[in-house]
Amino acid sequence: VITLLRKTNDLKSFLKDIPEGQRGIVPTMGNLHEGHLDLVRASIKDNPYTIVTIFVNPKQFGPNEDFDRYPRTLEDDINKLKGLSLGENKIIVYAPESNDEIYPTGFDTLIKVEKLTSILCGAKRPGHFDGVTTVVYQLFKHTGATNAYFGQKDYQQVKVVERMTKDLHLDVNIKMIPIRRDDDQMAMSSRNQYLTQETRKEGLELTHTVLNFAELLKTTSWLNAKDKINKRLEEVIKDERWDYLEFLDADNLQEVTPETKKVAILGALRLQKARLIDNRLVDITYA
Ligand code: PAF
Repeated sequence: VITLLRKTNDLKSFLKDIPEGQRGIVPTMGNLHEGHLDLVRASIKDNPYTIVTIFVNPKQFGPNEDFDRYPRTLEDDINKLKGLSLGENKIIVYAPESNDEIYPTGFDTLIKVEKLTSILCGAKRPGHFDGVTTVVYQLFKHTGATNAYFGQKDYQQVKVVERMTKDLHLDVNIKMIPIRRDDDQMAMSSRNQYLTQETRKEGLELTHTVLNFAELLKTTSWLNAKDKINKRLEEVIKDERWDYLEFLDADNLQEVTPETKKVAILGALRLQKARLIDNRLVDITYA
C-alpha cells in the first residue's frame, strides 16, 4: 500500500498511531532510480513503515546551480515505488506540495555542521550542506523515523548527517547503502540524465580514476601507492574540470595516517551540463 501525503500536518496525523520504532525514512529529491530504490528496499526490510520523502530542497542549491531544471517526476516516482514488493509493509510518500510545508514564511534557521562541510563538495558548493542538514533535521522530526537510509554516492553527506545526528542527540540510526552503478560502472545519479553520449564518455574519467586507485590500494600498501597517487593529483590540480580528487580517512574525512584502516577515494568532475561525484572505500595497509 502506498499513501501519498502533500502536507506536513497530514503526515503528522497519519503517523500519530504508528509506533516510532516502526518507521524508516528515505529522504530523496525524487526522480527515483535504482540507487534510490535500493534505499527503499533496505528500509522495507527493516521497518513496517517506510516514509519516502520527495522534496527538491531549494536551500541546498547554489544560485548558479540546477534547482530550476532539476527533474520533478512525482507520478513516475510513485509508479516505481508501486513496482516494489512490499509484502505487509507500507510506504508513505511525503511530497510537500509547496516550500511552505517545510519552510514557513519568514524561515530564518540554519543547521550547520562546521568542519566537515568545509572540505570536498562543501568547499565547492558553499552553503550546500547547511541546506541539507536544515532540511534533513526537519524531515527526521516530521517523520519521527528511527532508521534513515542514505546512499554512499554522497559519502560526505552521510558523514555530515551522522555528525548532526550525534551532535543534536537525535535518536536516528543512519544507514548507508552501497552505490548502485550502471553497466559502464558510472554511479547512478538523477543528474546523469543531463549527460550527452559524449559527456558521459568524458564523465567515465572520474569513474575509472576512482576505480583504478581502489584496485591499486587493494594490492599495494598506502606508502607504495603514494607516488602514483601524487602524480595523478598533480594532473588533476592542473585540470580545471576536476573539482577535486582526494584520498582521506573514511572514518573522519581527515588525512590518512598510520592509524587509518579504510581510505575513501572521492572525486568530483565538472562537465558541460553536469557535475559528477563518485567514491570508493577501500581497506588499506599503511606501510
Ligand atoms: O541526497 C539527497 O537527495 C538530498 O541531499 C537529501 C538528503 C534528500 C536532502 O534534500
